[in-house]
Amino acid sequence: MTGMSARNGPTRRRFLIGLGVGVIGATSLGAVLLDGDSPAVSTTLGAEWLFGRYTQGAADPDFDDTGMAPVTLPHCVTDLSWQGWQPADWERLWVYRQHFDAPADLRRGRAFLTFDGVLSTATVYLNGRKVGGGGGGYLPLTCELTGALGVSDNVLAVRVDGRWNQDVPPDLPRFPKASAIDFYQPAGIYRPMTVRTTPKAYLSDVFTRPVDVLGPGRSITVRCTVDAAAQVAGQVRLTATLSQGGPELTAASVELAGLQRGTTTATLTLTGLAQVKLWDVDDPAMCDVRVTLDVGGQQTHEYAVRTGLRDASFTQGGFFLNGRRLKLFGLNRHQWYPFAGGAMPDRVQRRDAEILKRDLNCNMVRCSHYPQAGAFLDACDELGLLVWEEVPGWDYVGDQVWRDRVVDDVRTMVTRDRNHPSIIVWGTRVNETLGQVDLYDHTDELARQLDPSRPCSGAVSGERGYLSALYPMTNGSAVFAFNDYSKLPAPDAPAPLRPPRSGVPYLVSEAIGSLVGAPSYRRTDPVAAQQDQATLHAWVHERAASDDRYCGLLAWCGFDYPSGWFHSVNGVKYVGVVDFFRIPKLGAAFYRAQVDPAKRVVIEPAFYWDFGPGSPQTGPGPAAVIWSNCDRLKLYLDGRPAASVRPDHIGFPHLAYPPFIANLRVRADERPELRIDGYRDGELALRRLFSPDPTQDTLACAADDDILAADGQDTTRIEIRALDRYGAARPYVQGSLDLALDGPGVL
Ligand code: GAL
Repeated sequence: MTGMSARNGPTRRRFLIGLGVGVIGATSLGAVLLDGDSPAVSTTLGAEWLFGRYTQGAADPDFDDTGMAPVTLPHCVTDLSWQGWQPADWERLWVYRQHFDAPADLRRGRAFLTFDGVLSTATVYLNGRKVGGGGGGYLPLTCELTGALGVSDNVLAVRVDGRWNQDVPPDLPRFPKASAIDFYQPAGIYRPMTVRTTPKAYLSDVFTRPVDVLGPGRSITVRCTVDAAAQVAGQVRLTATLSQGGPELTAASVELAGLQRGTTTATLTLTGLAQVKLWDVDDPAMCDVRVTLDVGGQQTHEYAVRTGLRDASFTQGGFFLNGRRLKLFGLNRHQWYPFAGGAMPDRVQRRDAEILKRDLNCNMVRCSHYPQAGAFLDACDELGLLVWEEVPGWDYVGDQVWRDRVVDDVRTMVTRDRNHPSIIVWGTRVNETLGQVDLYDHTDELARQLDPSRPCSGAVSGERGYLSALYPMTNGSAVFAFNDYSKLPAPDAPAPLRPPRSGVPYLVSEAIGSLVGAPSYRRTDPVAAQQDQATLHAWVHERAASDDRYCGLLAWCGFDYPSGWFHSVNGVKYVGVVDFFRIPKLGAAFYRAQVDPAKRVVIEPAFYWDFGPGSPQTGPGPAAVIWSNCDRLKLYLDGRPAASVRPDHIGFPHLAYPPFIANLRVRADERPELRIDGYRDGELALRRLFSPDPTQDTLACAADDDILAADGQDTTRIEIRALDRYGAARPYVQGSLDLALDGPGVL
C-alpha cells in the first residue's frame, strides 16, 4: 500500500461564504467579503505554509524565510517510515510561517484562527505579536486576530514545540520509565486549520440536547451562546429551526433586550418533533438545527449544527438505544498512519470509521486515548458508529499543572463534541488511573454541567481497578469501564472475562490486545497465531454477549499503531485486527463475518491457502477456522468433497455467527485447490475458491478513491496486492516493484 495526495499547479484555496462555496486566488485572504458587519467567512489555510526548524527570531515578521520549505497542512514535521519511528526526529522546536493579505472588509468584524490539533505545544504570532498558544495536541486552539491584521503581508508564525513535556497530558515524567507511554506522537500542525470572520456580536456556540426522546416531552433544548465585543442595544432575537433533509419541521425563538459585552446565553426549546426520525445505528438519521441571530430586525449571524435525536442509556442490565437493548460491539482506535503520523486529511480519517462500521461490523469505537479528528467523529455520526471519547492521558496522573490541564481538556472536549449523536459516553478520567478522587469529582461534575445527557467514565484495569469503588454510581450517570486482560486458564482454553461488577452499568473497554495470547500479530507470523487472534476476540465478545449485564465490549484494538512500549516490534505495536496500512488481517475475519447475510454473505478463512513459509505444508490442519455468516459450509479439495460443517454454536452459543471448524489437513505432497461453498437455508449463497499455485498469481492495484480534490491536502490510499488466480490475498510475496506517478500528485 502506498498513499497519494493531490496538488494542483498554482495553489488555490477554498472559501466558504455563508452557505455557498467560492474559490479565489491564493494571496488575498477574504477578497470575497463582506457587507457591513454581518456575514461570516471561513477558510482553510491548508496551502502555502513555509516550514523549518525554529531559530531565534523565526516568529518575527521580517525574518528571512526565503529558504524555508513550502508545505501544506495537515503536516508532520518529519518524514516517517512505516516502522522504526524515532522520537528524536520530532522532539525539537519548529516554525510554520504564512504570509497573507487581509482587505479592510476582513478587518471590520472579528477574526479567529482555529487549529484543530497541533502536537505538542503551539505559540501563535501574528505580525510578531503573540495571539495565542496552548498545549496538548488533541483539542482545538483558537486565537482571536481582531485588530491585529494589517492590509497586506500579514505574517502568521506558529512556533511548534515537539518536545516531550511532562506537564502536558498525555506526556508524563519519562524516567524511570524509559519509553513513557504506549504510543508515539509525532509533532506538527497535523489537523486542519481555519480562519473565520464574524460580526462583532456572534453566535460562538450552540449546544443541542435531546430531552425525553422516548416520552411525551420529546424536545431538543438549544443552548445558544452569543459573544459580543461591545454592548448591543435594541432588540435581539435568536431563532432555532430544525429540518431533516427537507423543509423546516419546527422552530422556536426568543427575544432579548440587547446584549451585554461578553457572553450571553439563552435556551430555546424545539418541540413538535413527532415526525423527526430517530438517529440509530442502523439508520443514523441526522437533523440540522440552524440558529440565527437577528439584531434590530436584521439577521447578522448564523450557526448550523448537524445532530441527531436519540436516547442512549447505560443501565445495570445493559445498554439501550432508543429503548432497544443493544450489545455494544467494537474496538479501540488509535489515529496514526504510516509515513504521515497523525497528519491525514478528512477523507482518510473518515475511512477508519467506514472500516470499523462497514467492514468490521462494529457498532461502537473507543477513541483511545485522546479526542480524535472532527472528520472521524462526523463520519461516526453519519455511519451510525457509537463513540466513547476520552481525555488525553495514559496510565498516569501528574502534578497540579498537569491536572489543571485535564480539567481544561474535559471542558474543551465536551464543548467541542457534545452535538455528536454518536458520542454516548465521556471519558473524563485518564485511562487506567486509580484514586484521584478530587480531580475526578471535578472532571465528572464539569462534564455533567456542560452536558447533563451523557454518563462519565474512565477505564480501569487489573485487580485493584476491578475492585475499586470508583464512582458515586447513580444508575446511568457513570459507567464502570474495565480493561479486562484476564489470563487464559490454559493455552487453548477460551479467553475469560471477569463477571460484571454489580450495582453499576458495566462495559469492557479493552480486552485481548497483546496481553492475552500472542504479543503481536504480523502477517509474517505463523498462520496459526494469526488465526488465534480472531478466535481470542470472538471468545471475549461471546462472553460479553452471554450476559445482559455486560453493556458490551470494545476489544484492543482496531489498527496497528506506532509505539516503543512493551511488545512493540521495531516501533510498531502489531495488535490491531487491521494493520497499520488499514488492511484487514486474518484476525479481522471474526469481525467481518458478524453481519446479517441479507446485507452481505461472508466467507473468511482465518488462514491463507498458500503452503508458503508461514503456513504448514500439510495445510491449515484438523482445526482450521473459517468465519462465515452462512449456516453450512461445504469444502472441496480439487473438486472432491472434503468436509461439510456447521457453525460452532456449542463453543460460541451467543455469537450471531460463530466460527466453522474444519479438518483441512492435506498430504505434504499434495497441493489441492480449495473451494468453499456457503449455504443459507439450503441454497448456495456464496462460493469462494483458493489456489495453492503461486505461478498463476497476479498483482492488483486498487485506490480507495477515484477522485481527489486538488487542494494540496487530499490523500488516498493505493493498495497493491498479490492475489491468487481467484482473487484471494497472499500473505506476502518477495520481489521489488517500481512505482511512478504521472500528474500533479505526491507519492
Ligand atoms: C492497556 C492500555 C492500552 C495498551 C494495552 C497494551 O493496558 O490501556 O493503551 O497499552 O494495555 O496492549
